[in-house]
Amino acid sequence: MSNNLLKGKRGIIFGALNKESIAWKVAEQCHEQGAEFVLTNAPIAMRMGEINELAEKTGSKIIPADATSMEDLENLFKGAVEELGGPLDFVLHSIGMSVNVRKGKHYTELNYDWLEKGWDVSAVSFHKVMQTAWNLDAMNEWGSILALTYMAAQRTFPDYNDMADNKAYLESIARSFGYHWGVKKKVRVNTISQSPTMTTAGSGVKGFDGFIAYAEKMSPLGNATADECASYCVMMFSDLTKKVTMQNLFHDGGFSNVGVSDMVMDEFMK
Ligand SMILES: NC(=O)c1ccc[n+]([C@@H]2O[C@H](COP(=O)([O-])OP(=O)(O)OC[C@H]3O[C@@H](n4cnc5c(N)ncnc54)[C@H](O)[C@@H]3O)[C@@H](O)[C@H]2O)c1
Repeated sequence: MSNNLLKGKRGIIFGALNKESIAWKVAEQCHEQGAEFVLTNAPIAMRMGEINELAEKTGSKIIPADATSMEDLENLFKGAVEELGGPLDFVLHSIGMSVNVRKGKHYTELNYDWLEKGWDVSAVSFHKVMQTAWNLDAMNEWGSILALTYMAAQRTFPDYNDMADNKAYLESIARSFGYHWGVKKKVRVNTISQSPTMTTAGSGVKGFDGFIAYAEKMSPLGNATADECASYCVMMFSDLTKKVTMQNLFHDGGFSNVGVSDMVMDEFMK
């Protein structure tokens, strides 16, 4: 169903790898709501080719960019503004990767070269994206910039490993840069803290099945799906949320405010 909430809006969507990706669902819903956008991902992810299907479906151009490369990002933002015919109204940063998680390194034995790589990809890239847009004056007034995060930034989930620290850094960048964007251009910057979701990035975390099942039982509304996350992103890109900025917004069915649920207690009372 479309209410044309994003009619006339232009944007860039980072991170659609396959149909499970949260960014994929965001692109589908932004298209349904009348937005025009450029899709982007790391050149290495392009090789899998699935993004072409999304581009066709949503009538979008793809401009590859490694989100850690200032050169790639400059090329992307210049290309997007040219392709879409003017400055942008929204940007989605939906990027995460930890080499330590991938290679099964325990948090107490982190490889710091890998840590730096994951930190650059998962957190600093958000600053790089915003600095590029800033330098090129590529955002319209009252635009909206979003990144996706996870609650391990606030509470400990042992197997989330160094991604927890990356997410804490990412959320801090949203607040710090959000201030400057607000003052300069009335642009808002927020993070959405999403429930565990079965995607390529998500399922890389050790014990992810158990993680999802636990969160489902703890959340009064149940886990939020990728599609539901996409709807929240659409709302954050729309003019209905113009004064929401520098926030970390939990989209988790209530998980973050629950101490224990009856369903989880039942497991221990057997
Ligand atoms: N899946 C979950 O449980 C969950 C929960 C909360 C938050 N998130 C966050 O949502 C976001 C999207 O993840 P997802 O779950 O849709 O998984 P996903 O694997 O589909 O998406 C991650 C994306 O990051 C991209 N990426 C990696 N390195 C990159 C680079 N150098 N430059 C550009 N792009 C790069 C990948 O190609 C991929 O498209 C991430 O920030 C993730 O941490 C996921």
